[in-house]
Amino acid sequence: MSYQIRTFGDPVLKSAATPVDDIDAKVVRLVDDMFETLYSLGNGIALAAPQIGVRKQIFVWDLGEQPLVVLNPEIVESSGEWLYDEGCLSIPGLYVEMLRPKEVLMRGVGLDGETIEIEADELEARLFQHEIDHLDGVLMFDRMTPDQRKAALAEFRSISEAPDAPVPERRRLRLR
Ligand code: NI
Repeated sequence: MSYQIRTFGDPVLKSAATPVDDIDAKVVRLVDDMFETLYSLGNGIALAAPQIGVRKQIFVWDLGEQPLVVLNPEIVESSGEWLYDEGCLSIPGLYVEMLRPKEVLMRGVGLDGETIEIEADELEARLFQHEIDHLDGVLMFDRMTPDQRKAALAEFRSISEAPDAPVPERRRLRLR
């Protein structure tokens, strides 16, 4: 089953998700539904459970190689810095250039209950950080200074008010 994506303003996106203690059939079904939802959108690479209204520490991703899932993830090491135009399915249309660590080590649990550790850099490292933020109830706006947030919210408002207006080559906001 494909879910509706919750968007900015929905309180579920501001609340912290709870760890998954028991990997039962419901969790497996939920993960299937998360992939179905992600693929139905066509423009996303990752999706966290709160984005479909479920407060559980789960996210799925697919960078074109294979569908992957992690439960109860955390970043245990990070290093370097990388600038990237970050976007979010829950803040449709807005891309903001954000600085975050370039390499991370993520630890979590797979659907089989085994601990997994994944070292990632650049885009994959960025999506890990972004999705774990979702599990903490943190959105891109929360990572900005007050001035940056004001500019980003204004930009998002203009996108939301005229979603069909011709878009410049690619909307992006530089907020370094
Ligand atoms: Ni997002």
